[in-house]
Amino acid sequence: MPKLMIALDVLNREEALKIVNEVKDYIDAVKVGYPLVLSSGLEIVEEIKKICNREVICDFKVADIPETNRKIAEIALKYADGIIVHGFVGEDSVKAVQEVAKKFNKKVIMVTEMSHPGAIQYMQPIANKLAKMAKKLKVDAIVAPSTRPERLKEIKDIAKLPVMTPGVGYQGGKIEEIINILDENDYVIVGRSIYQSENPKDVAKKFKEKLNKNKTK
Ligand code: XMP
Repeated sequence: MPKLMIALDVLNREEALKIVNEVKDYIDAVKVGYPLVLSSGLEIVEEIKKICNREVICDFKVADIPETNRKIAEIALKYADGIIVHGFVGEDSVKAVQEVAKKFNKKVIMVTEMSHPGAIQYMQPIANKLAKMAKKLKVDAIVAPSTRPERLKEIKDIAKLPVMTPGVGYQGGKIEEIINILDENDYVIVGRSIYQSENPKDVAKKFKEKLNKNKTK
């Protein structure tokens, strides 16, 4: 079954660690981004790992020149198991991060098409090309939208790489509509639907059960 990754976009350390503690039995990975890291520091990654012993990915959507990308990756990958980068900046910028990741034996995950409506404007027209590039560069995984299952499928078919897919829950994506596209190497990312709920543990458990049961093929 696909893995469940919580997007931990809360704004303080205590709340983040409390949620991780509550959901740890039902999640396979944790995604931290600017909201948490800028408010708590990158050391939060170590604290999360201490509590749940799960993979932690930094969603920094790195999108700079190779030299700057390299510096960001050097810092983030001292702590995290992987880092999310943008592909639209070009192969050289992604390769710079891959070189650092190789040194640390960590993952590089590349964004193709984002999950929000605005992604249709500029990202969607180039997303298939980005998926091809991801395949060529052999990144460890790609990000593609669960809000548009047909696009998720097309991008995954092109890249033939593991997918981390955001958009389930708050953004309208449904596990039932993407489960047949995914396999055990893929990750479903859920943020607000879990961490903003009254009972994050119960909600995470329900998502995990859905990922387990819903495959129909
Ligand atoms: P919610 O609260 O909507 O959180 O469940 C979704 C999480 O995923 C991030 N996100 C993306 N990250 N490429 C990414 O690398 C994307 O296309 C994308 N769309 C959403 C979002 O920042 C949040 O952490």
